[in-house]
Amino acid sequence: MKDKGIFMIERTLMMIKPDAVQRSIIGKIITRIENKGLKIVGLKLIRLSSDDVDKLYDIHIKKDFYTKLRDFILSGPVVAIAIEGKDAVSVVRTLAGVTDSVKAAPGTIRGDFGLHLTKNIVHTSDAVARASYELNVLFNPEEIIENK
Ligand code: CMP
Repeated sequence: MKDKGIFMIERTLMMIKPDAVQRSIIGKIITRIENKGLKIVGLKLIRLSSDDVDKLYDIHIKKDFYTKLRDFILSGPVVAIAIEGKDAVSVVRTLAGVTDSVKAAPGTIRGDFGLHLTKNIVHTSDAVARASYELNVLFNPEEIIENK
């Protein structure tokens, strides 16, 4: 959230998807978050259940690509990262690049590491309220801690 040039300290979710975990580029992605000056306040490697995926992507369940997306997210472990910092929701989305990796700009995570729409390396929350919802889906409250 931004108000008259004053940036808010926000929390957001980045999830490193199974394609990136399988390619062993977790560290390269985390380095970009840290290089930007954002703080990691929660981090874990997990396998999501079908129910977790339905909750995380509830807004896409009726879309024609949903089965493909769910099967992909269930295909291997993911890394859930809770991130905190100035204007974190939009900053992390900028770091990720646009959804379709083919169109994502060089210098972004998807632009530098991907060539796919569904297998697009990372997921990021798109709004503050959505970030709070998605962090709740993937983390228990005690798994997000202060990191000042
Ligand atoms: P993400 O940012 O995780 O949000 C929803 C995901 O659905 C998106 O990244 C892609 O992985 C996937 N997605 C979005 N649009 C399409 C599409 N048209 N076809 C297939 N997958 C899509």
